[in-house]
Amino acid sequence: MVASLSCLVFISLLSLAPLSVVAEGGNLYPQFYDRTCPKAQEIVRSVVQQAVAKEVRMAASLLRLEFHDCFVKGCDASNLLDNSSNIVSEKGSNPNRNSARGFEVIDDVKAALEKECPRTVSCADILALAARDSTVLAGGLSWEVPLGRRDSLGASIKGSNSNIPAPNSTLPTIITKFKRRGLDLVDLVALSGKVLKTGAGSHTIGNARCTSFRQRLYSQSGNEIADAYVEASFAVQLRNGCPRSGGDDNLFFLDAATPTNFDNFYFKNIVAGKGLLSSDEVLFTKSPATMAIVKQYAADNELFLRQFAKSMVKMSSISPLTGTEGEIRVSCRKING
Ligand SMILES: *[C@@H]1O[C@H](CO)[C@@H](O)[C@H](O)[C@H]1NC(C)=O
Ligand SMILES: *[C@@H]1O[C@H](CO)[C@@H](O)[C@H](O)[C@H]1NC(C)=O
Repeated sequence: MVASLSCLVFISLLSLAPLSVVAEGGNLYPQFYDRTCPKAQEIVRSVVQQAVAKEVRMAASLLRLEFHDCFVKGCDASNLLDNSSNIVSEKGSNPNRNSARGFEVIDDVKAALEKECPRTVSCADILALAARDSTVLAGGLSWEVPLGRRDSLGASIKGSNSNIPAPNSTLPTIITKFKRRGLDLVDLVALSGKVLKTGAGSHTIGNARCTSFRQRLYSQSGNEIADAYVEASFAVQLRNGCPRSGGDDNLFFLDAATPTNFDNFYFKNIVAGKGLLSSDEVLFTKSPATMAIVKQYAADNELFLRQFAKSMVKMSSISPLTGTEGEIRVSCRKING
């Protein structure tokens, strides 16, 4: 009796397991292309791997493309569309102009997939897979990517300008913009260092310009550090590369200790008063809730890496087009004519 009861419990747990994956990814599921394009994931990984081998920074750029896709009309590859007669490209928006990059890598992936299985794998799924592969190549944990997104028939430059939080947005603004996409404080903090903060200023991915933090270093008069939270030796170091005037375009790694590795140094730095941007520091100084999460990640790298993967699944599942909605684009840059 006891045995059969525990057996029953076991079976019902098993039958719940696939349900929870569906719940996380909406109608999306990792096996979506298993029959129609079994090599899809392998092809994406291979092209992304070559691109990142050529330029390490590309990993951050591809992660950012997914972020900038999903925050605008959901994860539907709307940010990949070029200008055309009836489309105003999101590439011209404030968050994207002069800083969104990696489009050629996505083109290469798409071309390889069209050869293997024409009109089958969406550009939106390519972005989601490329973000996961980039994370793994940079040393993060892997995750199963729920698949089955379809591509939009339009773009929204307005949404791109208004929905994507800037690296220097205030904390309440960032919280609101995440909440609107169904992402909570845990997601916000987990995604902050590697997703939200890539691109603080044009032409920089994973870097910040002197202008984006100078006001923290110099008081109006006198030699005090304007921002009391900046640790003293760190301030000296920053002032060396970012003088009171001049050197506006000098670049600083956003994650000073480990610029291209996936780990929790971003959070350790914030706790130590060595967060580069004011918007890093506010996670620690302006909200007890986010402060607690920052402390947890600073203390536990594994916890951060696992939560990052979970939050990426969540972000990559925002309002996808599925079923017969949208289309599978042949070129990620334009809708099928
Ligand atoms: C798209 O066209 C608009 C004008 O219609 C222009 O302002 C914008 O810069 C263009 N975007 C890109 C990415 O070329
Ligand atoms: C954020 O940076 C942009 C460009 O670097 C600037 O135009 C804007 O005023 C800044 N916003 C805040 C809230 O500091």
